Amino acid sequence: MPDDFERMWADLAPVGRSAGSGGYFRQPWTTPETELRHWFTEQCRARGLDVETDPVGNQVAWWNPVASDRPGVLTGSHLDSVLDGGAYDGPLGVVSALAALDRLRERGFLPSRPIGVSVFAEEEGSRFGLACLGSRLAAGALPWERARELRDRDGVFLPDALEAAGLGVADGDDLTWPLAERVATFVELHVEQGRDLVDRGAAVGVASEIWPHGRYRFDFAGEANHAGTTRMADRVDPMLTYAMTALAANKQARLVDQRATFGRIDVAPNGTNAIPSRVTAWLDARCSTDDALAELVQRITDQAADRADRDGTRLQVTAESVSASVSFDPELARMLAADHEGGDWPIIATMAGHDAGILSAAGVRTAMLFVRNPTGVSHSPAETASIADCLVGVSALADSLERLAR
Ligand code: GLV
Ligand code: MN
Ligand code: MN
Repeated sequence: MPDDFERMWADLAPVGRSAGSGGYFRQPWTTPETELRHWFTEQCRARGLDVETDPVGNQVAWWNPVASDRPGVLTGSHLDSVLDGGAYDGPLGVVSALAALDRLRERGFLPSRPIGVSVFAEEEGSRFGLACLGSRLAAGALPWERARELRDRDGVFLPDALEAAGLGVADGDDLTWPLAERVATFVELHVEQGRDLVDRGAAVGVASEIWPHGRYRFDFAGEANHAGTTRMADRVDPMLTYAMTALAANKQARLVDQRATFGRIDVAPNGTNAIPSRVTAWLDARCSTDDALAELVQRITDQAADRADRDGTRLQVTAESVSASVSFDPELARMLAADHEGGDWPIIATMAGHDAGILSAAGVRTAMLFVRNPTGVSHSPAETASIADCLVGVSALADSLERLAR
């Protein structure tokens, strides 16, 4: 008997957990994430499934009892986390996928096409800055020539991080998955990252769209100098330009009812008694349309440039990771949401990014299921979901897979 949902969930609980905050540090190609990859392999093996692991650590296992050569139904999510993240963002979709597969087998269901469970690497972009790195490579949306130049905060290049994790891309490796031949539909189950389902009193929902979003690096350069002996009027202080830019981002996003956040900065030399020589800050911006996103980022950039002029600092803005808006197949969403005991599931938008968005943009018919999150909090240790709702999610996913692979 393979482990049930609660057993699997309990197994994962300690992996990468901080004793201090209770949050998770499951950065890609580190020890905790490698442990999770091995855990996934073992769970698949316990279900008699072979796991294929690609050179960057994306994984897939197929259940194909009738030896069908039709394109399959793929489900899954990611096991990496943001820095000090919650337990659910990612792993809930992987554990639910394995549990849903068990449900289908218990029901005696024989799928007419393969059903696969997948795990994509570095979904959060918490280490190399590029969101959905694994699925972008698998979908052919990111060339390896660009990916291999990425460096983490400690200056480690992606190929070296892969090698340290026992993976690696060799010359001639094709990182692109044959999605068109192998995947007819992708369904990702995910914890909800807001309070929409709480407000609607529903345990599960289906996604309609993902807001466009992007990450932009703002490099502010100034002149290092003594904090005591430099007169206030003589300073070229990039911290001031940054501070005003952070306030401007918040104000501009509020004015148009969109989202802008500076959640990460790097200060050089980062000393208490010196004016910094450089501040690098990362803007995360999300809007309801692609045009609104471009306009918001432009307004923030203009205000930052204006302030840099006044401060005598220099500004450079680099788009590091931009994801266009995604509309999931509306017919598929309606089909999955309709005709359930207790009524239809709500169809809701999300402002969070997902591998499902990358696969959808690559032409795969894609849907997402969300499980209610009572706190509405995510990317934080406070992210949660009740076991009862998670089990409703497992049933919802099993029902969806059954509809798609009948
Ligand atoms: C990932 O969860 C993101 O929305 O950035
Ligand atoms: Mn996620
Ligand atoms: Mn996330």
